Amino acid sequence: MPDNNQRSGAQRRESTDPEERIRPMPLLPALIALGMVLFGIIYIAVSGPYSQPWMGDERTLADLQAKPASAAAGAPVDGAAIFAANCAACHQPSGEGLPGVFPPLDGSEWVHGSPKILANIVLHGIDGEITVKGNAYKGQMPAFPQLSDGELAGVLSYIRGAWTNKSEPIAADLLAQERKSGRTTPFESGDALKALEK
Ligand code: HEC
Repeated sequence: MPDNNQRSGAQRRESTDPEERIRPMPLLPALIALGMVLFGIIYIAVSGPYSQPWMGDERTLADLQAKPASAAAGAPVDGAAIFAANCAACHQPSGEGLPGVFPPLDGSEWVHGSPKILANIVLHGIDGEITVKGNAYKGQMPAFPQLSDGELAGVLSYIRGAWTNKSEPIAADLLAQERKSGRTTPFESGDALKALEK
């Protein structure tokens, strides 16, 4: 290391490189910040915000535990809502289906046809070939045994009256009766469905 006198003028004017040193946070602000955090935790714990409706959206525990109005016994079923939740993904909200994949419900001879066959389609599903409005489909229609008789009657009545369809609604009794048929497998084809009427 050369002695100071031997350095050039430029080197001597240069100040030493800055370096990082540890500068602890001053004690007072640190204590104030810590105190505020502790106050917040204790405040939340003591005030119990989860049990005080005015601190949230004002719904009480009783409101939250009560059944939604639509699920109340005896309330009329909303066929359009059941259709939107269970059928529209495939048959489309317009009821037109998807060409070659999902058959249309709007103007379908199956929808306007025998209520008994229609009930069996939603109770057991179809896994095979079916012709709708002159086009053959070979897909899978799921069964909906988990929906109640009233809900199925509601959704079938809805599709029979929606879009350009104008057929009579279907009664829940028919669903109850067809559910007892003992069938556990989907229908193999449109012909198997038509055989129900014989
Ligand atoms: C996962 C898709 C899918 C869902 C969800 C679905 N379907 Fe289907 N549906 C089909 C397919 C595919 C066919 C044709 C079956 C075949 O090709 O074997 C069909 C056929 C039908 C038919 C007879 C043919 C026609 O177009 O008229 C009716 C009626 C029907 N579905 C009603 C419903 C109803 C009502 C719901 C709701 C409760 C529903 N479907 C939900 C796929 C679906």
